[in-house]
Amino acid sequence: MGFRYDETTRIASLENGEVAYLIYLNSLGIPIHLHFGRKLSAFPVHEYLKQPSCNYQFFKGGRFCSLDDYFEPIAPVEVSTNLCHDLRPSSASVDIRGSTALDFRFSRFEKASFLPDDSPLPHARGIREEDSSFAMVLKDAKEEVELVLTYLLFHDENVLVRRAKLLNKTGKTIYVKKLASATYDLPYCGQTIVHFPGAWSDERNVAEEEIGRGTKILSSSEGRSGHEENPFFILKEKGTDEDRGICYGFNLIYSGSFQNAIHRNGYDRLRILSGINPENLSFAVAEGASFETPEAVISFSQEGMNRLSQVNHRFAREHVIDPLQKRKQGEVVFNSWEGLGMDFNTNSILECAKEAKGIGSDVFALDDGWFSSRDDDAHGLGDWRVNPEKIDLAAVVDEVHRLGMRFGIWIEPEGVSVDAPLYRLHPESVLGDPERERKFQRNQLVADFSQEEVVDSLLAQIQDSLGKLSVDYVKYDMNRPLGDAISSAHPQGEVQHRYTLGVYRFLHGLKKIFPHALLETCAGGGGRFDLGMLYFSPQIWASDASEADRRIFIQHGTSYAYPLSSISSHVSKASGSYPSKAHVAFFGTYGYEMDPRTLSQEEKAFLLSFEKTVRAVHKEVVLEGDFYRLLSPYEGPRACWMSVCQDRSTAVFFHRSFFKEVASCRYVKLRGLNREFLYDVDGIPMAGDYLMDIGLNLSEYHEEGKDIFIVIRKIEKVSASKKTSR
Ligand code: GLA
Repeated sequence: MGFRYDETTRIASLENGEVAYLIYLNSLGIPIHLHFGRKLSAFPVHEYLKQPSCNYQFFKGGRFCSLDDYFEPIAPVEVSTNLCHDLRPSSASVDIRGSTALDFRFSRFEKASFLPDDSPLPHARGIREEDSSFAMVLKDAKEEVELVLTYLLFHDENVLVRRAKLLNKTGKTIYVKKLASATYDLPYCGQTIVHFPGAWSDERNVAEEEIGRGTKILSSSEGRSGHEENPFFILKEKGTDEDRGICYGFNLIYSGSFQNAIHRNGYDRLRILSGINPENLSFAVAEGASFETPEAVISFSQEGMNRLSQVNHRFAREHVIDPLQKRKQGEVVFNSWEGLGMDFNTNSILECAKEAKGIGSDVFALDDGWFSSRDDDAHGLGDWRVNPEKIDLAAVVDEVHRLGMRFGIWIEPEGVSVDAPLYRLHPESVLGDPERERKFQRNQLVADFSQEEVVDSLLAQIQDSLGKLSVDYVKYDMNRPLGDAISSAHPQGEVQHRYTLGVYRFLHGLKKIFPHALLETCAGGGGRFDLGMLYFSPQIWASDASEADRRIFIQHGTSYAYPLSSISSHVSKASGSYPSKAHVAFFGTYGYEMDPRTLSQEEKAFLLSFEKTVRAVHKEVVLEGDFYRLLSPYEGPRACWMSVCQDRSTAVFFHRSFFKEVASCRYVKLRGLNREFLYDVDGIPMAGDYLMDIGLNLSEYHEEGKDIFIVIRKIEKVSASKKTSR
């Protein structure tokens, strides 16, 4: 276990019970990446690095290259820079007096340093002595710059966390143009990638693609992780599916513009680079200062993608999400947006609060529209004073509490409307070039969060208007991308990264204003669904699409990387029956978002009865359980999921047919149950082994849009003689 460096083999390794990460230090001082995956009894470095013998380029002085003759296009390295003649995309580019030539060689190993909870960048937390880590310091062959690569492998999770730090000792200011958090080189053997492209109201679709020659870029340049791609993607070996095979997950603990590059060169070598998007990056690092990347997360599974997701989920729950925030989860949040929009007053809000209580809400959250001139989306952002003519907020808070609920509020501190004093009096506090035409999106601009003073002044505004109220839940939204990331205070090459640091500064500050509140983040639906946000808020609004069918696709895609406990999902007024919307919302945080005054008696009765199921099993099965994708809506006209609690005694099964299927005979094999247990499945006793090996017979259910939603409970331990099946 732990970190080891073997002087004889020159192999550095991190190991836990199942996996190992191996680096070979060649005699040139170039760290060569050997392996991340299942632990091996031995690693024959010579054999692995053997080069193609038919190519004249591989001979030097008439002989085969020796192990340490480094052949650039195929050498699997831990970090790649241009002076090593590596013509693949490089890991780092730093402008030092006009030259970006770099050649990093090994200097020393060091103890890894861990970051405190309040550091500027979110990061993996909950690191224990049993986890293994080290830092490897590399130095440029000529310039006084050092690159510190930090590695951490959890003892009980197959997750490796990497980050890079560049230290400037050149005596001059240097400029970071690119610095990947992780470089990952390996041979191409027919792997595919699964990534998660999307758009507003259509986030995180599942897209599997072959890896062709050249570079595939998955990125965001909009100053937030965005709707269009997610920082997470999967590298999947041939033959891998949900339940079998080897796959790797790549993610970043970062919420700003990112880039994942997947490169396959002419020699069939794969390189993966993951980090801050280098487009427009030019970050000044003064003498003696350093530039630190966000952390990259590489997860591993040899039992298919369901297992990979469970590894990702556990990592997020145990090592990213704030444990104090996690404890606040599990309450049914009612949100006013879908039902009322900005068209409300004190009376209508109080009526809704009463009705919301009546359908079992624990939290009543007032969404957009409570402040300044905010009666439509062209006004008010940036002026966070309560609008007393529209709403008596203190009275609403009191009444919500009196009704026995907790009170929540929506804010969008990064947004600025043109009528806000922030823009009129301090245009320099807003992003964009004052000499060019302003681009409004959703009728708004963006506050310049790259300036700490702007962040702090907005925090002060929020403190003034809401700090004295007893706020128990805050939904932090962000509705506009940063197309015009031009700041009056910083050069453009620094704005986007500084902006992201500003968002984190705000979130740290927000927690101080509302130390007891549950935080939820959001960005025009699910446009900032990433591990950086999860560090602050344990749940993220997954999408503005809340109709049952579309949501199935979105939540299915989201589940590959992120735990169900983080997927904020409400039973809304959108299309679909209330049962169908409730079933999907159940596989997320579960809450409500409609005008409760318009619900029929029948709908209310359904919601109240379903709420009993939520109270009984949601926490242990969904928030804390293991999730399995059984059928993908991307592959056929059905979606099927189940989630199982940790002791395997309770599970919830969900199946939806999108089309009427009259003649199909269908069985769905369940996952994650205890083979030895006997379960009650809709009143029928069935054994765990039967359910997992043969499956549930769903042939009788075939109507379009028909859901099957079953709580499966253990009856008793089954003995060999007493096994029962349908
Ligand atoms: C975004 C969010 C919604 C809602 C509105 C309010 O679209 O995703 O949930 O908060 O903003 O303007």
